[in-house]
Amino acid sequence: MRLGTPLSDSAIRVMLLGSGELGKEVAIELQRLGAEVIAVDRYPNAPAMQVAHRSHVIPMTDPQVLNGVIMAEAPHIIVPEIEAIATDVLARIEEAGMATVIPTARATQLTMNREGIRRLAAEELGLPTSPYAFATSADELAAAAHEIGLPVFVKPVMSSSGKGQSMIEAIEDAANAWAYAQSGGRVETATVIVEGRIDFDFEITLLTVRSKAADGSIRTDFCAPIGHRQVKGDYVESWQPQAMTAAALASAQDIGRKVTDALGGLGVFGVELFVKGDQVWFSEVSPRPHDTGLVTLATQTMSEFALHARAILGLPVDVSQREPGASAVIYGGMDAVGIAFEGVAEALSVPTADLRLFGKPESFERRRMGVALARGADTDQARERAREASGKVRPVAG
Ligand SMILES: Nc1ncnc2c1ncn2[C@@H]1O[C@H](COP(=O)(O)OP(=O)(O)OP(=O)(O)O)[C@@H](O)[C@H]1O
Ligand SMILES: [Mg+2]
Repeated sequence: MRLGTPLSDSAIRVMLLGSGELGKEVAIELQRLGAEVIAVDRYPNAPAMQVAHRSHVIPMTDPQVLNGVIMAEAPHIIVPEIEAIATDVLARIEEAGMATVIPTARATQLTMNREGIRRLAAEELGLPTSPYAFATSADELAAAAHEIGLPVFVKPVMSSSGKGQSMIEAIEDAANAWAYAQSGGRVETATVIVEGRIDFDFEITLLTVRSKAADGSIRTDFCAPIGHRQVKGDYVESWQPQAMTAAALASAQDIGRKVTDALGGLGVFGVELFVKGDQVWFSEVSPRPHDTGLVTLATQTMSEFALHARAILGLPVDVSQREPGASAVIYGGMDAVGIAFEGVAEALSVPTADLRLFGKPESFERRRMGVALARGADTDQARERAREASGKVRPVAG
């Protein structure tokens, strides 16, 4: 791999499909290596657009429009940041050898639909998962819930960040769960997955990195496990490392290796796992940096974003952790355009604290607008500091 000069004939052009806060950090890392960065999203002034060479505002689920932008920009590398993309376009581009899709077009297709990745993990790879079934009506949902045993989680197969997701504890709630799933899923399919609840001690994200080794082969490295807390399918705080038994860590890495080997390609993967004692279950995987991995901005020699940039450019990576740390999400707390943040100086006065304010043009009550980061002697201290710092930042009307 030869790196060039941005905006010249030698440039390595990288197109981000999705330009949120995770894409913004990836863009910054790519900029540092002199890549030419093209940010794409469905709304103007998205976070990564603000640090890219150019940007395009398009509906990324529209195959023709997406194809048109890719043809016009002729990127060498395409980096999806979200799931709601016309992935069949990516498959054609990859097949024609016109660009490298990160990690692979097939990985983006399998992971955008819970059915694809669940069948791969459980049925092809034989990985432990929650018991599950798919349903295409309220009646089928009720039957599946009965079969699996309550409580069950109901999730649209085409959804993320907890949208349309509910847990039901009584069969009578099946109709409501079905209706809620229809309101929250993306439009392509009305199918839901019904999953038995795993009674875990804690859940982790195992960041798994596939990168090129010196001899040209692909190697797999694991970051220290990240613990996190979810509220309504959205992460509110994360920390690294999450303590776990040696046996559980070995199982987690074994699962991480198998699932990322099956998806292939280069880059960071966020492997979501449930852990109870020595037992580990596969939940799902993002073929890209993970939101709970924002903590690595504080804890690792190279953040997950730097790791992703390096790996996709075919460069070596270093997954070492430096210190325990934590992240705590800052929500908008209001629906408004162009909000401001007060209390930033107080937040940054918390020992070791750092902030990312994403610059999203519009705030919603429960929209993630920033994150507080902190380090500590252990994760308890780091979590306390991150929560304290995030609590001091006050979104106000602009
Ligand atoms: N089968 C299950 N057993 C126990 N808890 C579950 C189960 N499925 C989901 N959860 C809980 O709900 C959270 C969100 O589920 P999941 O990761 O499948 O949804 P998501 O919409 O993809 O969320 P995100 O996009 O934030 O990762 C999980 O992190 C876990 O806390
Ligand atoms: Mg998840």
